[in-house]
Amino acid sequence: MHPANRLKRLPPYLFTVVDEIRERVVKSGVDVVDLSMGSPDQAAPPQAIEELCRAAKEAENQRYSREDGKIEKKLKQTIANWYVERFAVELNPETEILPLIGSKEGIAHLSLTFLNNDDIALVPSPAYPVHFNGVIMAGGILYNVPLKEENDYKPELKKLDKNITRMAKLLFLSYPHNPTATVVDIDFFKEVADWAKGKEIIVGNDLAYSDITFDGYKTPSLLQVKGAKDFSVEFHTLSKTYNMSGWRIGFCVGNANIISALKKTKTYIDFGLFRAIQSAAIKVLSGPQDCVRKTVEVYKKRRDFFVEGLQKIGWKVKKPKATFYIWARIPLKYSALTSMEFTQLLLEEAGVATAPGTGFGEYGEGFIRFALVEDKQRLGIALERIKKLLEIEG
Ligand SMILES: Cc1ncc(COP(=O)(O)O)c(C=O)c1O
Repeated sequence: MHPANRLKRLPPYLFTVVDEIRERVVKSGVDVVDLSMGSPDQAAPPQAIEELCRAAKEAENQRYSREDGKIEKKLKQTIANWYVERFAVELNPETEILPLIGSKEGIAHLSLTFLNNDDIALVPSPAYPVHFNGVIMAGGILYNVPLKEENDYKPELKKLDKNITRMAKLLFLSYPHNPTATVVDIDFFKEVADWAKGKEIIVGNDLAYSDITFDGYKTPSLLQVKGAKDFSVEFHTLSKTYNMSGWRIGFCVGNANIISALKKTKTYIDFGLFRAIQSAAIKVLSGPQDCVRKTVEVYKKRRDFFVEGLQKIGWKVKKPKATFYIWARIPLKYSALTSMEFTQLLLEEAGVATAPGTGFGEYGEGFIRFALVEDKQRLGIALERIKKLLEIEG
């Protein structure tokens, strides 16, 4: 059995490699502190669970979801209201909003919808893997746009080769950024809109972490920039904001033509979302947002504790203004190791699982990412173990 060439072209999924090593270390009796995957550990809002259970019992909800169904229409209207409340951006619920089975699904399908084999997708590197793997699976041309520390991990779009830009059909952006935790202000989006003017490039802005923000920082939307809706869509998810990653629900909003084409692709592939999940999403998106504040407060305490802990050990890292990630350069004395080798060392010698920078693309080399998805006590254990490792080896 030979899988299609497009599967063979995919780079090895380094997170699977990390999982395998972690499994081996756990089997050897080590209680691994797992900071590798961005899988939220906090509870989903109780009102979502209650509504899911209630709606799951209704006969009508056992059937296929239909675009013109009552719940489906209400969900889109709820998303439109949420967008006005959150970003002061007006959206037409019928033409500019598309619910997704998690935002990862929509991001992959955006590439499948728009890329021919002679189309370039501009993908910042490092990035959340589906931004680049989706391009490869769609059979498009992947062009990595480096995100460098000295540019505060922002792409230098104006410096791109004209021939590359001419062939480009898609650009992915995502701030607050996974894995570097960088944030941007609205001026950055104004520059993007200015650059995109006159080019036939679709911008897909992934806002998975729009609400996991600290110290008064508020995430802007690209759609707040005048004219940006002409060429862009934004992706959202309930996975991070509401700790509902296993539920698989997100949405795409923005340009009606892009949404319509993406919808067409999905029509041939899936049947939408379980109605009980849609009903629960309506409940959380339209209800009080205290649950989000609580979630953010927990991450903020972990961030302060963990970053200060690493700094005390002598590992220089910054406190991010958003996400629950810490992007850390491999300490000098281990800098001869690749990020994968260093990840393996941390796992085998210290029992701490992290994500190797190269799992996010070639420009992630030299770094690892901590995901603060274990509680403070466990983070304390991780810090102790890292300290010991750095001391012994030093
Ligand atoms: C930047 C980014 N986008 C999208 C996703 C996927 O989210 P979802 O659960 O909605 O598929 C993630 C998950 O880690 C992410 O980090």
